[in-house]
Amino acid sequence: MARHLITSALPYINGIKHLGNMVGSMLPADVYSRYLRQRGHDVLYICATDEHGTPAELAAKEEGLPVDEFCARAHDQQKAIYDGFNLAFDYFGRSSSPQNHEITQEIARELKANGFIEERAIRQVYSITDGRFLPDRYIIGTCPHCGYDKARGDQCENCTRVLDPTDLIDPRSAISGSSDLEIRETKHLFLLQSALAGEVESWVDERADNWPVLASSIARKWLTEGLHDRAITRDLDWGVPVPGDTWPDLAAEGKVFYVWFDAPIEYIGSTKEWADQDPTGNRDWRSWWWESEADVHYTQFMGKDNVPFHSVMFPATLLGTRAPWKKVDVIKAFNWLNYYGGKFSTSQRRGVFTHDALDILPADYWRYFMMANAPESDDSSFTWEHFTATVNKDLADTLGNFVNRVLSFSRKRFGDAVPEGAEPGEAEAKLGAEIARLLAEYEEHMEAIQFRKAAASLRALWSAGNSYLEEKAPWLEIKTNKDGAALTLRTAMNLIHLYAVVSEPFIPTTAKAMRESFALKTDTATWVTPDEARALSSVPAGTPFTVPPVLFAKLTDDDLETYKERFGGAPA
Ligand code: 2FM
Ligand code: ZN
Repeated sequence: MARHLITSALPYINGIKHLGNMVGSMLPADVYSRYLRQRGHDVLYICATDEHGTPAELAAKEEGLPVDEFCARAHDQQKAIYDGFNLAFDYFGRSSSPQNHEITQEIARELKANGFIEERAIRQVYSITDGRFLPDRYIIGTCPHCGYDKARGDQCENCTRVLDPTDLIDPRSAISGSSDLEIRETKHLFLLQSALAGEVESWVDERADNWPVLASSIARKWLTEGLHDRAITRDLDWGVPVPGDTWPDLAAEGKVFYVWFDAPIEYIGSTKEWADQDPTGNRDWRSWWWESEADVHYTQFMGKDNVPFHSVMFPATLLGTRAPWKKVDVIKAFNWLNYYGGKFSTSQRRGVFTHDALDILPADYWRYFMMANAPESDDSSFTWEHFTATVNKDLADTLGNFVNRVLSFSRKRFGDAVPEGAEPGEAEAKLGAEIARLLAEYEEHMEAIQFRKAAASLRALWSAGNSYLEEKAPWLEIKTNKDGAALTLRTAMNLIHLYAVVSEPFIPTTAKAMRESFALKTDTATWVTPDEARALSSVPAGTPFTVPPVLFAKLTDDDLETYKERFGGAPA
């Protein structure tokens, strides 16, 4: 048993997330956490809303609410949706929490004490029309690298390069649209990443070989571009204040830390929130983060645009403290999920948003589809045609129909307990071997955090049951060999139970309903090894069972048309 710390990139507080956000961070982290928990590991899955910075201020402004009020509401709204998707966080915190304030300020003080933070006067974009500085997203313009004309001051969404507001070509204010801008001098804190570059490079070299290739290639590319010193404070009202005991001048000017400085620290902050809100006081947040380099295994999940921050900048921050903070062991990154080949877009409300998804179908439909088509090796595309076909074929036919067919037929012919029947024969031995092989393959892909491949193995496990059933055809067998038919059904019911256990990470609600069909005494979600699975005997003859309602409804052509009409199909 190992201790696994898992985090998924913190969703920005502004706006409800689309399926593309979900598939690249929280959902895979949940699937992986569930798998590890089932295998008996000690898992802590932490996430939170990312509440600071210009996105929060701009969104609150749009809704006419004070930022704190906006964030509190938006947090609850997002949390309710994630509950709907069955994301089993151990804690879902808020980066605006007092815990994050405290730890962020502490880390900044340590960095200063070690000579890695310095005060510098810099030239910043000031909007005369708006009467304020325009940091990050408050300014938009053309990306100097790729020419994208809606690049934000902090990062280009198109080519993922991190930018400085002064890099933008044809800059304008995101508040007023005004281009009446000037450059003014103001003081900010800089994180001296250049001084940490060598250390970060060796740190990446030590670990990145164990990362799935997307994350390691981005990290290395980033390192070859060189680590530059970066401003880590901003002129904003909302954020973690620069501590007055350490930087009285900047604190007096009301400067706050840059959102990308405090957001990853919230992984730690949220863990402390988790500990603080436990009435028994038995949760030890430090044991996950402090002097735990060897005994905690830490995996982060994120979209590819987040990799530079997690592979280079956050490690640099932690290394510079010279304190024994736990650093990530494995970064699992994702490409983009597109919508009919174009971008999902929060700002343009293009694609399928998480609340709308749950409005039409239960979480398991989405969970399975998204993971089976996760954009791992390349970008992947969502289309309603692909979605309905996958649901119908894999979930409704291969899994759902198998379960209902076997249980209904057995009940009709043998009553509501698992029938005994003949001793297993050659067909069952062959099936057992096939199941053991596929399950071993499935485990291998889950351990390697390769979800598409894992989903394919899971689907192959479901298919193996269908092939066995077709081959044995108990509905014919029963006419000549009742004991043989009973054996077939008992074997198939054992498959259903096995599916219930191993499908849990992907489709937890359905898996539970499947497990609960059988009146077994012990906790049955515990993982089954390939060797145990081979025997297909965890549900003994005589076990009472019930037939669950249809597990997955088949989606019709009418459904397909309705979805396309509601959400829009191919891009214009
Ligand atoms: O890209 C995003 O959505 C950011 N809110 C992710 C932050 S991850 C972490 F560092 F907090
Ligand atoms: Zn660009």
